[in-house]
Amino acid sequence: MNKKTVRDIDVKGKRVLVRCDFNVPQDEEGNITDNRRIVSSLPTIKYLIENGAKVILCSHLGRPKGEVKKEFSLAPVAKELSKQLNIEVKLADDIIGESAKKLVSEMKDGEVVLLENVRFDAREEKNDPEFAKQLASLAEIYVNDAFGTSHRAHASTAGVADYLPAVSGFLIEKELDFMGNALENPARPFVAILGGKKVSDKIGVINALLEKVDTLIIGGAMAYTFFKAQGYGVGDSICELDKLDLALELLEKAKQKGVKLMLPVDTKVGKAPEKDTESKIVKCTEIPDGWEGFDIGPETIEIYKKELKDAKTIVWNGPLGLFEIDQFAIGTNEIAKALAESDAVTIIGGGDSAAAIEKAGLSDKMTHISTGGGASLEFLEGKKLPGIECLENK
Ligand code: 3PG
Repeated sequence: MNKKTVRDIDVKGKRVLVRCDFNVPQDEEGNITDNRRIVSSLPTIKYLIENGAKVILCSHLGRPKGEVKKEFSLAPVAKELSKQLNIEVKLADDIIGESAKKLVSEMKDGEVVLLENVRFDAREEKNDPEFAKQLASLAEIYVNDAFGTSHRAHASTAGVADYLPAVSGFLIEKELDFMGNALENPARPFVAILGGKKVSDKIGVINALLEKVDTLIIGGAMAYTFFKAQGYGVGDSICELDKLDLALELLEKAKQKGVKLMLPVDTKVGKAPEKDTESKIVKCTEIPDGWEGFDIGPETIEIYKKELKDAKTIVWNGPLGLFEIDQFAIGTNEIAKALAESDAVTIIGGGDSAAAIEKAGLSDKMTHISTGGGASLEFLEGKKLPGIECLENK
């Protein structure tokens, strides 16, 4: 990576503002149900503590739309951080107000303060320069370690870098190293697996990956748009009728580039996206009316597994079926197992694919699971990420 990191800057005795992505899922009682984003932020925070910085953490949580809403408070995150770091992490009542200023002014070297949800102020998402300036004025150095939010040009992810020396944390460094290497110098065969509901969400990434991969495996509901485009009925399956030409173009592009683009051959259809719905396996070219495709079928699983056997690099983004419902999670789980058993470098785009791998209990078997959903997708598309662009070059 050509960006400076915390290693390249003297942090001793300095107030360091660290933007993390603590946007973690919670249950109805506010308990954090997946703390991976917090745990992934610890190496940078610990490094700053050990090197005598005053660590001011900030993050968003959810989409409170510029209003203070209790259910989006970072209080549960402060609690979890205190537990993980074994020191008290004080939570300010505000972002740049009296509470934040007071807590920061009282900090000693090695202490940690967390500001309240930056999205409680509407100026955050507008990347308002005055808000960014006031946020920056709390600190002397800015560290961005919020990979999951680095595709957003917000005040705390990019704007503050106009007012402070700006470097990356270890999480961003790691994410860029793993994903960058996989894209730039992949061991071959290089196979990408793309799932998810809509072709339209993945056009950019399909186009970008067709330039790089040897095989592109398609799953998830977006497969039905490809079938419809080729003239087959897809029953009641999710299908983007305005993307049929695009699907044909992508098939043609794969052919021209010599990329093996693989679509499912069979699918598990159900009557409704519900736990106990009636279901059956049918050919993808013969989905009956009144039925909706929710997973790849057993024949497809075997074909995909065979293809993955010889792969040396595998990038996966998007579940292959409705994995939240057990009877439609089989394709996603079987492919996850194939990756877990593979010797290939396995890179998992964040969001739903990461959640599916976690649910299957296979997270520790992957080479790298990104903490970014939208951000990892934009990175794979080859887009420039504002939260990274704003950092100082080495
Ligand atoms: C994510 O969960 O993908 C990031 O935290 C970004 O959240 P956002 O989509 O609300 O900006």
